[in-house]
Amino acid sequence: MLILGIETSCDETAAAVFQDGCRILSNVVSSQIKLHTPYGGVVPEIASRAHMENIIPVIQKALEEAKVEGKDLDAIAVTTGPGLITSLMIGVDTAKTLAYAWEKPILGVNHIEGHIYSVKLKAQSSKLKSIKLPAMCLTVSGGHTMLVLIKEWGNYEVIGETIDDSCGEAFDKVAKLLGLGYPGGPIIEKLARGGGRQAFSFPRPILNQGNFNFSFSGLKTAVLYQARRIKKMDKKVVQDICASFQEAAFEVLVIKTLRAARKFKVSTIILAGGVAANQALQNFFKKSLSVNDYKLLITDFPTDNAAMIAGAAYPRVLKEDYDDWHSLQADPNLKL
Ligand code: KG4
Ligand code: ZN
Repeated sequence: MLILGIETSCDETAAAVFQDGCRILSNVVSSQIKLHTPYGGVVPEIASRAHMENIIPVIQKALEEAKVEGKDLDAIAVTTGPGLITSLMIGVDTAKTLAYAWEKPILGVNHIEGHIYSVKLKAQSSKLKSIKLPAMCLTVSGGHTMLVLIKEWGNYEVIGETIDDSCGEAFDKVAKLLGLGYPGGPIIEKLARGGGRQAFSFPRPILNQGNFNFSFSGLKTAVLYQARRIKKMDKKVVQDICASFQEAAFEVLVIKTLRAARKFKVSTIILAGGVAANQALQNFFKKSLSVNDYKLLITDFPTDNAAMIAGAAYPRVLKEDYDDWHSLQADPNLKL
């Protein structure tokens, strides 16, 4: 069974071909990082124009690498939300056009479900069978920071989410205010390695509010005020700020995830989304979990890609649970 996945929710134009629910035949991602770097963040207008230019070549490349043609496909899966409406529309309309032209069924996929499912992608391996449910998934990226209770695959409960900025967004904004470049996450991670985690004492927002929500906007502002107070911003100070900021953000993520895992009595914790690529976050989790006896699964596909979209659609394709070609639409606020 061959599923073509298409993903254009933010600033990556991506297409992938996924076979039999277990083999990624191709996973092409065209990044727009260079276009958005001068602005220190994603500019929606620029993103949608780039999607327009890239979407057909990216899909062509995905089909070529997989050595398949449109007529060989069993279904087309496309991200319908959440995300930037002008970016989502390019993917959705392209998918609808191809589904019509090739006479293939179409499925709309929630981007967050794609991130969650990404942990199963390598699952020709034993991981697929060994994920014990219910599980707690921390999905942490540029667009979202969420704790999701996975009751069954396809049956989720969002038990907490950010009330303002996402964690990845805070990384991007802190990098911008320090003049470090875009995207902020990988740059801050690298600089933090040379800095002191306790060098500055930044807040741990809403850590003790008794819920599972997050807030990163105040933390970002605390970094801004701290940076303004520093007279000589040399490399060591920047490293210290990065390390202390990262520590504050990750402490909240880890503690809240553990509390949620305990409350909902799960034994598996899943880490997904772009920020999950961060080694310091992965290590923080590993260190904290060793004493608590949870199984930790970290996705091999943290940043946006289309294999995770095709993967999330697979169980529905098996059931022929397709969407109606006419009514399928992009929804920037799509709920899980
Ligand atoms: O999942 P993703 O590709 O796109 C969204 O769905 O948002 O995540 C991108 C976000 C960006 O904010 C980026 O700064 C962050 O993930 N990110 C990281 C790292 N790599 C990417 N944050 C912290 N450490 C990293 N190594
Ligand atoms: Zn994403």
